[in-house]
Amino acid sequence: MNHAHLNTYPDSSEKTTPLVAVKNLSVCFDTPRGVVEAVRGVTFQIGRGETVAIVGESGSGKSVTAMSLARLLPQPPAKITGGEIEFDGLDVLQMSSKELLRLRGGGIGYVFQEPSTSLNPVFTIRSQIAESLRLHRPEIPPKKRDEEIIRWLDLVGIVEPAKRLRDYPHQLSGGMQQRVMIAMALAAHPCLLVADEPTTALDVTIQAQVIDLLKDLRRKIEMAILMITHNFGIIKGLADRTLVMFKGEIVEHGATDEVLNRPQHPYTRALLECIPRLGVKRRRLATIEDFLPSRYHSISAG
Ligand SMILES: Nc1ncnc2c1ncn2[C@@H]1O[C@H](COP(=O)(O)OP(=O)(O)OP(=O)(O)O)[C@@H](O)[C@H]1O
Ligand SMILES: [Mg+2]
Repeated sequence: MNHAHLNTYPDSSEKTTPLVAVKNLSVCFDTPRGVVEAVRGVTFQIGRGETVAIVGESGSGKSVTAMSLARLLPQPPAKITGGEIEFDGLDVLQMSSKELLRLRGGGIGYVFQEPSTSLNPVFTIRSQIAESLRLHRPEIPPKKRDEEIIRWLDLVGIVEPAKRLRDYPHQLSGGMQQRVMIAMALAAHPCLLVADEPTTALDVTIQAQVIDLLKDLRRKIEMAILMITHNFGIIKGLADRTLVMFKGEIVEHGATDEVLNRPQHPYTRALLECIPRLGVKRRRLATIEDFLPSRYHSISAG
């Protein structure tokens, strides 16, 4: 069965542009301690259908970077203080709230570590995916929605999907909830799937299964993936290119095999030496203070 579809984003005129182009992005947070510069001068692109990984230790700015793509960070306390974000040639920083609603889900689908951030406990699996279809796939008539929901549940490896429609999230295991989240994100036909540590909360074998699922989906669906992880162990064979973030900056960037086999930056080498094996509960690196200046900059208010 061929599920391939090429997702195009409605307003885009220029298909030769990269899907995502981030230039010199800086993001700050207003905190009681002062202004924290969480992301500083970050530049990268994601091509159509390409899989890119962002790797870095906790607090390095991976999620802030990923959430900025669809302006998902609450402002305040967050503030995009500099740079440009283009999605499919469109200026994300200039989008109206209506355009942002369509971008979120329809252009960029997000899957997070905690199913509870995406799945609502009081609604059935069917009603949650149906809502995503209603918003982002209006061409599917209401009568055809169940068929489409079942197709996606099947595609993400849920056995007897028709029987799961009336289930509530708590009736599913963590791994199954993760699959439902992926199905819900994909049913909206996003051009980019952002997977932010989608397996960190799962145990060993389930982590491996979800990564295998992403690899499999990547072959079946024409879609770009931004994979975020603190774990180098899971990007091999999944990501075409890898960015390494350290204290809010990209310190290394290259083809995944190059980065894994010939890391240039000492921080990357240190991370590689600490590869947690797939499944080992997340382990924090000893902080490597020497390579870059601190993320914390007091920015004077005046
Ligand atoms: N709501 C917030 N308020 C204040 N500072 C924040 C907030 N969210 C993030 N930050 C700052 O931004 C930095 C980067 O956070 P981010 O969530 O992007 O890290 P991460 O690389 O995703 O880490 P993890 O691997 O733990 O998910 C944090 O260290 C913190 O200083
Ligand atoms: Mg994060």
